[in-house]
Amino acid sequence: MSELKSHAVTGSDHLGVHSVDHFAFSVPDIEAARDFYTAFGLDVRDLGDGRLGLYTFGADHRWGVVSQGGERKKLAYVSFGAYEADIDRFRRHFADLGLKTEAPPEGVDSNSLWIRDPDGLALEIRAGEKVTPDAKSHYEMRPTPGGVAAAIKRGEIAPVKPRRLAHIALFSPDVAAGVDFFTRTLGLRLSDQSPGIVAFMHGPHGSDHHLVALAKSDGSGLHHLSWDVSSIEEVGLGAMQMSARGYSKSWGLGRHVLGSNYFQYIRDPWGSYSEFSFDIDYIPKEHAWEANDHLPDDAMFLWGPNPPEDFITNFETAA
Ligand SMILES: [Fe+2]
Repeated sequence: MSELKSHAVTGSDHLGVHSVDHFAFSVPDIEAARDFYTAFGLDVRDLGDGRLGLYTFGADHRWGVVSQGGERKKLAYVSFGAYEADIDRFRRHFADLGLKTEAPPEGVDSNSLWIRDPDGLALEIRAGEKVTPDAKSHYEMRPTPGGVAAAIKRGEIAPVKPRRLAHIALFSPDVAAGVDFFTRTLGLRLSDQSPGIVAFMHGPHGSDHHLVALAKSDGSGLHHLSWDVSSIEEVGLGAMQMSARGYSKSWGLGRHVLGSNYFQYIRDPWGSYSEFSFDIDYIPKEHAWEANDHLPDDAMFLWGPNPPEDFITNFETAA
């Protein structure tokens, strides 16, 4: 492979989205979605029009909208949150780039800015609350002194309920073009990449190591949704919780190199994944994170079982 490079990060008054606000996709069987995400520990609510809203318990932010339709899962759009004062700047920025804004996808009620990425995926840029954290997420460790038993009893296990959406991983037929688009257009910043294979981008206003990941594929699509949990114990318990509900196809327990998080990916009914993620690296606002190129060997994981052979299969486009 070519020489590995380091990418400079500069500028503080940086026009950029601050969060992944929400995502939307359709599936052939909405009840399968209800079952999977309920088992995963999300607060799944009927939106009253046949669609489901995906929430985390104890908060009113809607992370996802799932509708029924089609013969396979299909990512409909991704919505990014921005500061209200930046919306007009974005409008001018898109015009400067020669990028056309367009009407929202059919059936979506929104007067925000809508554009398309190079793969044709609809993207919304909307004024909204910053729902990605301003600091590294709190985590729980319970140091145990000698003479004390650390593990709880199985009867004391509480259901795992993720705290928030952490990031979204998209398939892209051209990862380099995708990075160029998301950094120039939405103001995301490259965190780390294995060139041409996978790339991770963070928000310039303080975010986890990645808000958006891109994985090489033959077309556009949704590879995984990542959900933050508070301990490595919850990653393990989450896997067991899903297995008990019949969702035993998974990858983990492991730890990533790029982003450093501990993970367990649970395969959903459509061949994509939801990830229990713990302790991902955090990139504070205005921190000059050095974005490096990495060997393919570091693109997937530091330790853990080998991933399933079809882990990076795009079932939205697969024949
Ligand atoms: Fe992930």
